[in-house]
Amino acid sequence: MTQDRRVAVIGLGYVGLPLAISFVEAGLEVEGIDAYAGRVEELNAGSSPIDDVTNDRLAAALRSGLRVLLPEGADLAAADAIFVCVPTPIKSTKDPDLAPVLAAAETIRGALRKGQLIVLQSTTYPGTTMGPFREVLEESGLKAGEDFDLAFAPERVNPGDPASASKGVPRLVGATTAEATKRAAALLANINDHVIEMSSPDAAELSKLLENVFRNVNIAFVNQLALLCERMGLDAWEVINAAATKPFGFMKFTPGPGVGGHCIPVDPYYLSWRAREFDFIDRFIELAGDINFAMPRHVVGLVADALNDRGKAMKGAKVGILGVAFKPNVRDARNSPAADVIAGVADRGAEVRFHDPHVASFTDGVGVVREETGLDELLAWADVIVVVTPHRDIEWATVYDRADLVVDTVDSSAGRSTRERQVLRLGAGWSTRA
Ligand SMILES: NC(=O)c1ccc[n+]([C@@H]2O[C@H](COP(=O)([O-])OP(=O)(O)OC[C@H]3O[C@@H](n4cnc5c(N)ncnc54)[C@H](O)[C@@H]3O)[C@@H](O)[C@H]2O)c1
Repeated sequence: MTQDRRVAVIGLGYVGLPLAISFVEAGLEVEGIDAYAGRVEELNAGSSPIDDVTNDRLAAALRSGLRVLLPEGADLAAADAIFVCVPTPIKSTKDPDLAPVLAAAETIRGALRKGQLIVLQSTTYPGTTMGPFREVLEESGLKAGEDFDLAFAPERVNPGDPASASKGVPRLVGATTAEATKRAAALLANINDHVIEMSSPDAAELSKLLENVFRNVNIAFVNQLALLCERMGLDAWEVINAAATKPFGFMKFTPGPGVGGHCIPVDPYYLSWRAREFDFIDRFIELAGDINFAMPRHVVGLVADALNDRGKAMKGAKVGILGVAFKPNVRDARNSPAADVIAGVADRGAEVRFHDPHVASFTDGVGVVREETGLDELLAWADVIVVVTPHRDIEWATVYDRADLVVDTVDSSAGRSTRERQVLRLGAGWSTRA
């Protein structure tokens, strides 16, 4: 049983908000802190910005005592444990940007007292918790491992997949000392059935990066396969689906227009950047990143090919994008490959509109903001439809019934009947399906 009953969570986004609410639901006293006033306001008004947290669940947490505050109003000294769940982006040069993590450490520094447990939960490179994060905390005059406990406990949630947020998903934690690790694990046991104690924060940081780099590398591998299949006149999806019937030693990944979101396109660069500090150039990781970043450009090429088939140039063409969120069934459009696809076709002179039932307004790769168009209007307007994100609730039968020309980057046409030279598929070329 944990001795820690009062918890503060700094950063109330996709990771911090569910964490704060889970602790409330487990009967702990929770203070949630966010530096963005708009976020604090919407949460206090009972409006959840996250697909996986319903307004009802948020309202219940507020009724049960969840306090949501700006850093100025927080009482961090009263907390037994403080979790940090702020963003860890990359700079335009693809180097880690620890500014939010260090700003959160500064917020804690002023209130830090003996006996507290500080847990970094943001995904970051090995050495962050015990390096720059600890250094800012220790400017308080207190020492990690002696005066306060310091841990890293990564998040594994996969937005849009409620099972990934369940108590059954094991949690990792590593802290300054074995006792501190046990303490953090006991606290996390309130909200997770299995907590795996690791030897250090660095090991836990690297495990998290391994999980995400694994995905990035495998996605790059099948994206390469898709490009090869286009040249060979083979269907990459048929090949992958066949390989996936092997019940062992194979894990299915599928090609697509590129990777997006806060994690998969970003985290590999945290690892390769850190590796360079050890004179280790991780070409493998960087190559995977390059391949995935190049996919939107390949999609732009497919759009040009499809229009060319109709004797049309990209310049002046009407391109309708279906789905701009970075993955299906969520409203999160951060780092979506749609941004570069749209910027790429617009750069070649096309007019662009998009339809996405989850995203009302979208900023493309060069900063142009567009508002969503209804599906019927888009289908009537566009010369070519480009499927980027296959949301479940797009009316696919209507799309394939009405669209004259489709570039399908995600095999959304699987299981539908399509007409001759109606659909140009990434990884497969022109396909007619009965
Ligand atoms: N989104 C995911 O699916 C996911 C999954 C696993 C891990 N992660 C990692 O978790 C971390 C957080 O990601 P997220 O998706 O929740 O981000 P997010 O952008 O949804 O939320 C972060 C919140 O932190 C706030 N914030 C920023 N700086 C702050 C500061 N100094 N003090 C207080 N609040 C501050 C922002 O206003 C925002 O509300 C990242 O490191 C990310 O890589 C994310």
